[in-house]
This record gives sequence, C-alpha cells and structure tokens, in this order.
Amino acid sequence: MTQSDIHKHYQNLVSTIKHHDQRYHQNDDPEISDAEYDLLRRELDEIEAQHPELIVKDSPSQLVGAKTLKGFKKIKHQVPMLSLSNVFSEDDVVDFMERVRRFLNLLELEPLELLAEQKIDGLSCSLRYEGGRFIHAVTRGDGYEGEDITENIKTITDIPMTLPSDAPDVLEVRGEVYMRRDEFEALNARLENEGKKLFANPRNAAAGSVRQLDSNITAQRPLHFFGYALGEISHPIADTQLKIRDVLRAFGFQTPEPDFVTDNIDGIMQNYEAVLKSRPDLNYEIDGIVYKVNRLDYQERLGFVSRSPRWATAHKFPAEQAVTIIRDIDIQVGRTGALTPVARLEPITVGGVVVSNATLHNEDEIQRKDIRVGDHVVIQRAGDVIPQVVSVVMDKRDEAAVEFVYPTHCPRCGSVAIREEGEAVRRCTGGLICPAQAVERLKHFVSRNAFDIEGLGAKIIEQFFEEGILKTPVDIFTLEERNTDLEQPIETREGWGDLSARNLFQAINERRQISFERFLYALGIRQVGIATAKRLASHYLSLSSLKEAICNARDHETTAYQDLLSIEDIGPSVANDLIGFFVEEHNLEILDQLSGILDIQDFVNNSLNDTPVSGKTVVFTGTLTTMGRAEAKAKAEKLGAKVSGSVSAKTDYVVAGENAGSKLTKARDLGVQTLSEQEWNQLLDGHH
Ligand code: IVH
Repeated sequence: MTQSDIHKHYQNLVSTIKHHDQRYHQNDDPEISDAEYDLLRRELDEIEAQHPELIVKDSPSQLVGAKTLKGFKKIKHQVPMLSLSNVFSEDDVVDFMERVRRFLNLLELEPLELLAEQKIDGLSCSLRYEGGRFIHAVTRGDGYEGEDITENIKTITDIPMTLPSDAPDVLEVRGEVYMRRDEFEALNARLENEGKKLFANPRNAAAGSVRQLDSNITAQRPLHFFGYALGEISHPIADTQLKIRDVLRAFGFQTPEPDFVTDNIDGIMQNYEAVLKSRPDLNYEIDGIVYKVNRLDYQERLGFVSRSPRWATAHKFPAEQAVTIIRDIDIQVGRTGALTPVARLEPITVGGVVVSNATLHNEDEIQRKDIRVGDHVVIQRAGDVIPQVVSVVMDKRDEAAVEFVYPTHCPRCGSVAIREEGEAVRRCTGGLICPAQAVERLKHFVSRNAFDIEGLGAKIIEQFFEEGILKTPVDIFTLEERNTDLEQPIETREGWGDLSARNLFQAINERRQISFERFLYALGIRQVGIATAKRLASHYLSLSSLKEAICNARDHETTAYQDLLSIEDIGPSVANDLIGFFVEEHNLEILDQLSGILDIQDFVNNSLNDTPVSGKTVVFTGTLTTMGRAEAKAKAEKLGAKVSGSVSAKTDYVVAGENAGSKLTKARDLGVQTLSEQEWNQLLDGHH
C-alpha cells in the first residue's frame, strides 16, 4: 500500500467506526456484533501505532479515551459554579421578581424580562474551550472545584470538540449532562440481562456514567448535553441570556427547548402550566423551570448571594413520591423549644434529589400514621426543604417493629419538655439555658426577613456557636473587633480567606442600620412573625416605647394591656408571649446592648395617604395588559391601597383585566365598584 492508500483506508476506518458508535450509543441499535466492532478498533489502533502522523483529532481512539482514569483530578472553576435558589408558588416567583426589581431599583414601569427555560434533571458540568478547541470538562463539585471528567465527556457525541472560528479564545460552556428516557430504559434492560445493578432513574444513570473511572464504560452509555450558561469568557458574545442561547446553538450545542421570555407573572404562570403539561411527553426529565434575568448587564449587577445567583431561580414542580425505610427517629429542638421528630431514612432519590431525612411534624402525627422505626414509608418532596412521610406501607411491616416512645425531656439540655393543653407540640422548658434553642435563635436572627446577613448561613452559625465565638446576637456585631484575639481568626480557617472574612464583616456592618419591624421580627419572639412585627412597629413606632408599653402591660388591669390587645390580630396568647419576652432580664440586657451598637430606625409609614386609593382595599383579577400583577400590586400598595386576593363586602375596587372570571361576578353580586385596567390607571394618573 502506498502512503496515500493507507491514508484513505485510515479515513474510511475512522468514519466507519464513528458510524457504528452512533448506531450503538445514540440509537441503541448496532448493525454489527461487538466482536466485529472490536476488530475494526484493533485495526485502527494498529494503523495509528505505525503512522502516528495520521491520527486525527476526532479519531474514535482520541474521543473514547481508551485510558482508564485513576481517580479524578481536581480542577478549579475560574468562575464559581453555584446552585440555584428555589421557588414553589406564584407568590414565590412574585417575591423573586420583586427582590430583583428592588435590587436594581427599577422604576415601576421599567420592564424586567425573564427568560424561562426547562430545568434539566441531570448532572451539571463546565466545558472549557481555548482557541476553539475542547480543553477539559469539570463537574460542579463544591462549586469552586470539581472533578476532571474530560475523558468521559469526549464520549458524548453532541458536545462539539471544536468551535467555529469566531468563537472567543476562552469560552466555558455550562450545562447539563443527561440521559434520555428511552435510552435509560434500554440501558436498564441491558444491565438486567447482564445481571447487573439497575439505575433508579435517568439522572442517576447519567451521573453514574459520567463519574465512571473507565471511560470505555462511559462510551457505552448514551449521554447527551444541553448548554444553558457561560462561565469564563475572553470577550462578551451577547447582551442577553436569550442571545447566549443563540450563540450556543451556533457553536453546535443543543439548548433546552422551547425558551420563553416574559416580563410579567401571568406570562410566567402560563408558561409554567404549559411546560408542566408537556413534561410527560418529553424524552428527558425536567424538574422545574429556571428563570433568568434576561439582560446580562442586570445579571452582572445582581451578582450572587452565598451559593446562588440573585439573577436566577428555579421554579420547582410539585411533590414527587417514593418508598424507603425509616432507619431511626431523632428529635430536633427549635428556636422556641418545640421538639420536632425527624425520620432518618435510607437515602433515596425523589424528584432528582437524594433524600435522607423527613419531618414527622409532632407526636400525634407519629401516632396517627403509626410510624415505627424499620417501616417502609411513602415519602414526598414538595415545596418544603424537608420532605414529609405520607404513609406507612403496612404489608411490609416487620412484626418486631415497636411503637416509638416520645421523649418527655429535651434531648439537648435535659430540661422537662411539656405539652400544653390544646397544643400539638411539646416544648423544652430550658429556655435560655438550652443550647439548641440559642443556636436556632441566632439562625433566625440573621435570616432573610430579619437581619439578612449574607454569608452567615446555618452551618457557620452552628460551628461558631459550638466554638463559643457566637453566643448571642450581640456577638455577631462584635465579631470583627474580637477577630484578631480569637484563637483561630476567621480568615485563617479552612474554607476562609482574607477576602471571604472581609466580606463577612462587611455584610455584618451593612446591617447595623435596621428598621424597627425587622429588628422586632429578628428577636424571634414566639408568635411574632413578620406581619405581627410590622403591626406592632406601626403601633408603637419605636423600640423604647414598645418596651415600655409591654412592661406596663404585665399588669392586665392597665390601659397598656388593653391597648396591646386592640392591635389587629393580637390576642391574649400573643400578648402573653410578648410580655414573657420582655420580663426576662437576660433579654432586656441583650436588647440594651443591641440598641447601643445598632441604629434601629423608628417605624416610618412609607405608603402615601393622600392619593385616590389610600386606605382602599383593591382586588386585581384577570390578565392585566399594561403591567404585571406584581407591579400593579406594588404600585397600588405604594399609593396606600391594600391589595387583597379575594373579593368581599369590604372590597372597595375590583380591577378587572382580560378574561376576568368569578371575582368579577362576585364583585357585581356584592355591588363592589369594578374598574377596567384603563380606568384604574386613570385613577392613579399623576400619582407615583
Ligand atoms: S442556569 C449560576 N439553567 O440546576 C447557575 N441551570 O438546581 C446558573 N440546571 O446548578 C444555572 N437546568 O446545574 C440553569 N436550564 C438551566 C438548568 C440549570 C438545570 C441545573 C444547574 C444548577 C442546578 C440548580
């Protein structure tokens, strides 16, 4: 054979093998036997060994990485690969949009476009290209550093190994590796035939395949990839998320279809329903919808909070169920001393997430459902972070399983735990001496609706509490000045550095000024949620007058007590909890110290009280065309109106958009004034 004959033969061989790879991996429908395929591969190997100059970059030998990896190398992400916050309801989405709008300080009528895209239930990874060539692929790992899965990713034929010449010099594409449903079924059928262990779902199958040390095995697993975001990039290639999708497709990637751009909640919800409906017909699994702020300059400004971007969130689909075994039942102690039973489960994947704990709510719930350690139970993962136990699978019960005995003492501090009459929960009476309550109070203090301190998450609070660095809320605000004297200053700790320590101190310092109602909520007084805190704040206006009033209200004969009870939604029980908090010496001491180091701002009523709608109760219904529901609501509230979700005789106006239904009928029945969207806008005209 001449050199040129050899070359031709080699090229033929490469394309023949590629063809069979495709039949096998993608179509699961091989045309030749494994033995015949092996012969072709051996021939290829021989030619390449003798004529290395002929080897092409996309030769099957290069792509399938015949090498077996010895453990995975770690690779740092140039741009962190974080996770997404979740939302579960229309209200949550509205909150998300509002938060974004507030953050960006958008004017009422400035649109905020969101791109909605399917949330693929696979394994996220980052692909790096330099000079238009695929360089490596890394799993998300801890978000900052992942595993080098380059060899395995090369086996995925819908990931391009080269990019067009106009691609940026450095480009990282982020996306999801997944397995199609039919391919997953076929894989499991094959594994079953071979007497091997089956995969629980396509996600596990994809993850298990990607994290194979032997890339030859990965090559036999049909995997796909959807691109949906960018990591490091040497020069910008788009100004919106929608255009990123276009560019990704132009570079040869698949993107989740369809996309949807909207700037209002009605559009979001319509799209949500439509995608949810299409879900069973898709050949791959999705577990929700991701919303991303479309403008990249906005994304840039929004940045990240702890582990997720502020500019995106995932709208999760409702509960999915699974059956697993209860290995144990533990008791957790909350901020107000409530004991909550938690089931420790045999880990199981439900809706793409491994679940190993489920809440059992309270002792009655355990009795009612007759839940015992060792039982097979149906668990459900809905909106909650903690999944629930739905029921026991009785025919699988072990005869020896015994009823659970509920503790009568706090498992953490040993104090008696009492269940008051009419109450569902049993509470630890340890109060201030109970460390479990103290740490939960701290977590509440820094939580989103309270002090909202970024970077001070539950894990860190627990750790700092255990070490005695943070015992009370006051300690949070003295942390920076105490830092250098700590046995182990923050920046020297594992996982910390100068920058992250500085960021933490800055986040704390940014919160030294706080509104009275947030402060009140942060105290974590039993039954004082956000709404009650706000009512108290608007009634008493300042911390000092509230403190004085509550102390006086100790005597139920006083006008102070009557005054307290006159506040909407405050009855004797809430009053009792408030008084209980303010008679406690230790609490007063902490309040004094906090007042000394914080700027607690007196309540200001920032809604307008001289507009045509101030003090009026308004209900919006139907589809509004000039603005989103959230925006309409925000505007009405800003102008002093109260926006309600349901129509009653107390409603002043019902604003009916397109396709308004039962609420409009009800308004007419009750004789409530109805306005078209246009009439409503006219009413507000000139008021901002
Ligand atoms: S955008 C900074 N888009 O879901 C994060 N993520 O549960 C930007 N995911 O970590 C991510 N489908 O791995 C985005 N269409 C999609 C997605 C998606 C699936 C994954 C992603 C993320 C995880 C969070």
